[in-house]
Amino acid sequence: MRLFKNLLVVGTIIIYFFVNSTSCTFDSEEELLEYYNCDTVNVNYNNLTYIFTDICAVCHDDDPPRVGIKMNSYENVKASINTGKVLPAIKHTGPYKMPYGQPMLSDCDIDKIEAWINAGMPEN
Ligand code: HEC
Repeated sequence: MRLFKNLLVVGTIIIYFFVNSTSCTFDSEEELLEYYNCDTVNVNYNNLTYIFTDICAVCHDDDPPRVGIKMNSYENVKASINTGKVLPAIKHTGPYKMPYGQPMLSDCDIDKIEAWINAGMPEN
């Protein structure tokens, strides 16, 4: 009976670690699903201000304008993108890797920005 109890305890510990390690795998599956669920349909400027305004414009506003890239309004974001420098910067394929000193934007964020550009950069 004592042996049985010990086995039960050991078994529970093994199951505990097994469940924990599989939940870890599940996390990355969730991230993968999130990427495939990335909604790039009907993206407009207002859907993207959480990137342009909240991340980029912290450095790229009017004061001081960095290499002419301003990300603090709809017109300025459009003009900056039309320089052709923004996509290489966020995709890390050009000389500058943006956002400067921070982790790269997510694949979904980059896909959304590209879809928005391809749709003609609608404001609303
Ligand atoms: C922490 C500050 C900071 C943030 C945040 C930031 N940048 Fe920059 N950015 C810089 C600096 C510094 C440069 C280099 C030019 C300079 O020294 O003025 C630069 C340069 C650029 C350039 C010029 C590249 C070229 O080829 O001339 C682009 C385009 C750009 N950033 C876009 C972005 C975008 C888009 C975001 C948001 C995803 C962003 N940046 C976020 C600081 C920042």
